[in-house]
Amino acid sequence: MPPRIIYGAGCQGISLFRQLEDDFEPPVIHCFVDSDPEKQGGSINGVPVYAPDYLKTRIPGTYRVLVAVGSHYGQIRKYLENLGWEEHNHFEDASPRPMTYGEMNPDFIPLMNEVRRYSLLSRQRLEMLYQWAKNAHAVRGDIAEVGVYKGGTALLMASVLQGTGKELHLFDTFSGMPHTTYDIDLHRPGDFSDTATEEVARLLSVFAGVRLYPGIFPDTVPKGWETKVFSCVHVDVDIFSSARDCCRFFYPRMSQGGIMIFDDYGFPSCPGIRQAVDEYFDTVHDKPVYLPTGQALVIKSAAQF
Ligand SMILES: C[S@@+](CC[C@H](N)C(=O)[O-])C[C@H]1O[C@@H](n2cnc3c(N)ncnc32)[C@H](O)[C@@H]1O
Repeated sequence: MPPRIIYGAGCQGISLFRQLEDDFEPPVIHCFVDSDPEKQGGSINGVPVYAPDYLKTRIPGTYRVLVAVGSHYGQIRKYLENLGWEEHNHFEDASPRPMTYGEMNPDFIPLMNEVRRYSLLSRQRLEMLYQWAKNAHAVRGDIAEVGVYKGGTALLMASVLQGTGKELHLFDTFSGMPHTTYDIDLHRPGDFSDTATEEVARLLSVFAGVRLYPGIFPDTVPKGWETKVFSCVHVDVDIFSSARDCCRFFYPRMSQGGIMIFDDYGFPSCPGIRQAVDEYFDTVHDKPVYLPTGQALVIKSAAQF
């Protein structure tokens, strides 16, 4: 086993170093390398820290380089490849990261792979949505989504709901983005028009209790919903006025413990979502919690309807 060089003497490199030291058969750590001049020339637990140029003096493959620099990995990969080191053979991304939900629950992976064929959401965002929707089982009320497009996230939520007796209410024009607010939104009317109500209905036809409402929300809300309550609502509308209308309509109708999930809250491509959510929740008791996935969620703390 060739000795190791840890690329990165910051907190990620140090945490990797500690992890390796705890191994049943700890590998030999030859040195750290780091581009920070303040770290170069020093040492960590007796292991020296050199400048990255040190690797120019080593023959690729005589050491294994463990790169622990988090999101800067791409930059370092290029640097090492230019020196003749080969990814996987001679170096690897070794930044410590927590396990994903899918890694912890392999049974979930086939559903995730199917959902991703119909969804714009990243794996991480889908994993969040799945868990929050599951969490709503014990809460009174149905589930709703505004912003269905090809039905990926709807498929995920429909799968979670089976056997609960809850209904899933799905709102979308199914013909593209409606009017947008020109000075706030970056999306334009007609975006996402490559879908169709019939296709989404077919995708979800195996599930009981799924209802589709084609047209512009909230005009399509059925009559008689004045006293209806919800346990979980997924808002994935990308534009200001739709997000604002979702807050106004659904928040007062959420059961205690009910969850609203706003996709795209932290994405610069959808500035209207954050603006609408922040403006609305400034006026009520509950506040959005921002997740590292870019989603925000609000948990209804007390019945106010
Ligand atoms: C980003 S897509 C939804 C993505 C989907 N959740 C997925 O899994 O990929 C946004 C959708 O919101 C819909 N939309 C936005 N505002 C709407 C409104 N007021 N009424 C109906 N649909 C709306 C658009 O038509 C579009 O299909």
